[in-house]
Amino acid sequence: MFYDEVPEGPPDPIFGLSDAFHADVRPNKVNLVIGIYKNEDLQSELLSTVRKAKEEILKEDLLADYLPIDGSKALVGALGGLAFGDLWESLEERVYGAQTVGGTGALRIGAEFCSAFVGKTFHVPHPSWPNHRQIFERVGVVETYPYYDRSMRKFDLSAMLSYLKQLSPKSVVLLQGTCHNPTGCDPTPEEWKQIAKTMRERELMPFFDVAYQGFGTGLDRDMAQIRYFAQEGLEFLVAYSCSKNFSLYCQRVGMLFAVTSNRALKSRVGSQMKRVIRANYSNPPAHGARIVAKVLGGPLRKSWVQEVDAMRERIVSMRKKLVEKLSSRCKEKRFDYLLPHQGMFSFVDLEKEQVARLIEEYAIYLPDNGRINVAGLNSKNIDDVVEALVNVMS
Ligand SMILES: Cc1ncc(COP(=O)(O)O)c(C=O)c1O
Repeated sequence: MFYDEVPEGPPDPIFGLSDAFHADVRPNKVNLVIGIYKNEDLQSELLSTVRKAKEEILKEDLLADYLPIDGSKALVGALGGLAFGDLWESLEERVYGAQTVGGTGALRIGAEFCSAFVGKTFHVPHPSWPNHRQIFERVGVVETYPYYDRSMRKFDLSAMLSYLKQLSPKSVVLLQGTCHNPTGCDPTPEEWKQIAKTMRERELMPFFDVAYQGFGTGLDRDMAQIRYFAQEGLEFLVAYSCSKNFSLYCQRVGMLFAVTSNRALKSRVGSQMKRVIRANYSNPPAHGARIVAKVLGGPLRKSWVQEVDAMRERIVSMRKKLVEKLSSRCKEKRFDYLLPHQGMFSFVDLEKEQVARLIEEYAIYLPDNGRINVAGLNSKNIDDVVEALVNVMS
């Protein structure tokens, strides 16, 4: 009676494809779909430092009280230091931080806040992580800005800047802080400066999404652009995810930072963020937050940095191997454009029909835009993947 008019919703583009992969019975199937880091055995393991922290917090974890509405203060300090580095000490008095339910929760809380107090039009890159549109559509209007030049296979600064220059003040612009999903193409430090300059001149609200700190060039270097925006005195938001760099996907650990101009604004912004959070999920879960604070705040930190470095190095080396093997098998085509890509993803220049053939004929799963999770490759499957790519591209 009440549900009669409810239409069937479309499956999620990424999770839906992952389900199809799991249902496929072909033994040689390859999963390049979802953004989960896999080791050389294609396992998604808990990092050993995270496992140790989990064991250490067993006693604390027996506490069953609610966390505050905006979560663990220890987590705010720990992630503030990780994200903003040496600047954190001076920034702390004007940066509000709220622990959220993953990076997605941070995006959603930030979106609701912007819609109420900044602006209701959200500009997201084209292409972008599909969930950006879904999140922002719930609270406002979504437009897309040009980001990727398909013919040049790289980030298109001039198209992006021309777009930004015609926006009205207080438009909210989603910027992927590092390791752009899905293209793998990030602006250079010089290009980030131009983006910051335009955003300041046009009075646009930067909303950074950071889901891959440490997966690009290094933990500090991956955050250089965000630190630059802060040093330049811009006001902005950062939605931060601990899902990938702490292998805590299912624990839903994230943080929303609001970089404001002074202590009074921090307090006012924080008071409104708390109202948004309270009306959504009241307060965040504790377990994952305690783990992250423990890893970052004590002797485990050094080994965790090494574990993040190792994940990044494996991704970089698989990408290099892929390019070498493709180049030697298919000499007339160029694949060097894949090499500067940052993070887990690379955009392979494929048509939708070619992707469909990869799935149907070769059991190699990837979204139809040609995005591959490079961490889904290992020394056992890479030759099959190269062979299949060469076949569908020729
Ligand atoms: C670009 C981007 N932003 C945000 C997220 C959200 O991360 P979380 O799983 O912490 O919600 C992801 C996850 O895949 C992502 O790729």
